[in-house]
Amino acid sequence: MFAKTRTQLILLLLSFSCASCKPPTWNSDNRTDYENRISWNLQNYHKATLLKTQWNAKAPDDVLKLRMAETNRVNITVLQDSTGDFSTITQALDSIPPRNTRRVIVSIGPGVYREKIVIPRNKHFITLLGDATNPPTITGNDTASIIGRDGMPLGTIRSATVAVDANYFVAVNIRFENTAWHEIGKAGGQAVAVRISGTKAAFYNCSFYGDQDTLYDHKGLHYFKNCFVQGSVDFIFGSGRSLYENCNLNSIAKKAVSITAQKRTNASLESGFSFKNCSITGSGQVYLGRAWGDYSRVVFCYTYMDKIVVPQGWSDWGDQKRDLRAYYGEYKCSGPGANLTGRVSWARILTDQQALPFLGTHFIDGDTWLLPLPF
Ligand SMILES: *[C@@H]1O[C@H](CO)[C@@H](O)[C@H](O)[C@H]1NC(C)=O
Ligand SMILES: *[C@@H]1O[C@H](CO)[C@@H](O)[C@H](O)[C@H]1NC(C)=O
Ligand SMILES: *[C@@H]1O[C@H](CO)[C@@H](O)[C@H](O)[C@H]1NC(C)=O
Ligand SMILES: *[C@@H]1O[C@H](CO)[C@@H](O)[C@H](O)[C@H]1NC(C)=O
Ligand SMILES: *[C@@H]1O[C@H](CO)[C@@H](O)[C@H](O)[C@H]1NC(C)=O
Ligand SMILES: *[C@@H]1O[C@H](CO)[C@@H](O)[C@H](O)[C@H]1NC(C)=O
Ligand SMILES: *[C@@H]1O[C@H](CO)[C@@H](O)[C@H](O)[C@H]1NC(C)=O
Repeated sequence: MFAKTRTQLILLLLSFSCASCKPPTWNSDNRTDYENRISWNLQNYHKATLLKTQWNAKAPDDVLKLRMAETNRVNITVLQDSTGDFSTITQALDSIPPRNTRRVIVSIGPGVYREKIVIPRNKHFITLLGDATNPPTITGNDTASIIGRDGMPLGTIRSATVAVDANYFVAVNIRFENTAWHEIGKAGGQAVAVRISGTKAAFYNCSFYGDQDTLYDHKGLHYFKNCFVQGSVDFIFGSGRSLYENCNLNSIAKKAVSITAQKRTNASLESGFSFKNCSITGSGQVYLGRAWGDYSRVVFCYTYMDKIVVPQGWSDWGDQKRDLRAYYGEYKCSGPGANLTGRVSWARILTDQQALPFLGTHFIDGDTWLLPLPF
């Protein structure tokens, strides 16, 4: 199996010819040329990411480990009526050995699970799978100011109901909650529903309910598809490089706040949030993003924006040097909130060419790790 996979990978890499590596010249008035150019671009993003794995000595190993894990899947079940392998998610996760090398699919039956979950960095390849028609809820209500067992405040990072430090995590059909409310003017109210700090993680059909700081998209490459994220202040934040596709972002803000706070502190970091075919709904007045770090990067493409989006669109968080450095883009969005008339002068209205890097799973090197769902 090992040898076969390696051969396949090498064949795949050999099959790239560089004859097509030079971009075609194109005339912007000619539609055929333009489409060729787009198709060249997409093909080459694909190659670039695969080739990168070839050049990075460690990466092909990662690809092989992932393939091995996926061919050796294990299923376990969690059911609250004790007819499954376990009755709590914590017990099921505890049964998985450290340095796990197999994909473990934890099927979770309907119900409300009041559990605080931390998946440690050495338990890779875990999938939490719920039922699409009756998804389980994992809930908690910790906030940053709550005092932990060590006598110290939890801080934002430890307030999460579910925290994932491992790589190759997948969640399907799960409702994640942090039910603590943010009181305006009160400090320490950060209350994370999910913190994802491992890389190469994917969430499908999941919902994230919280108030301040709902989804801590902390670091690594992440994919969110058909998800729902609700909150008030900075409810999607962190230094991840993430693609959100077909997601609904729902504000419950009562005043003017920002939906995202993407953290990018220097120009050489590859992080950023890309929202494609999403919708922004709810209450309050929202900025699309506020710059956490000088080089914050967020792009919205093909997204419906309800009237709650403020005309300015984006905030530099009171630091004007960020106006030149932050990369805040919009492309082909719709709805009353997408009216560009009042936008800050430094918002970018992307051209087709500029939007392209953000428009697919190539943005998160998806072809090196994002697998089709096996169900
Ligand atoms: C557009 O480009 C295609 C392919 O390069 C070419 O065959 C065609 O004649 C061009 N059409 C126009 C109107 O320039
Ligand atoms: C695990 O469950 C899936 C469906 O949920 C099934 O297709 C697969 O065969 C199961 N695998 C094992 C090893 O039981
Ligand atoms: C958090 O939930 C626990 C368990 O249900 C409850 O006892 C506690 O009062 C809640 N705390 C707050 C601040 O709501
Ligand atoms: C996601 O949810 C939709 C609608 O509820 C459902 O049809 C679909 O099967 C779900 N996808 C997965 C992977 O369960
Ligand atoms: C856009 O997202 C909606 C759900 O939010 C989905 O129904 C639709 O198929 C998506 N469109 C594309 C082109 O993916
Ligand atoms: C950019 O930030 C990263 C992470 O903090 C750091 O490792 C790197 O050295 C920084 N690079 C520059 C050019 O400042
Ligand atoms: C955009 O906003 C401006 C200023 O409020 C307004 O004059 C214009 O009609 C709006 N455009 C659309 C398409 O709604």
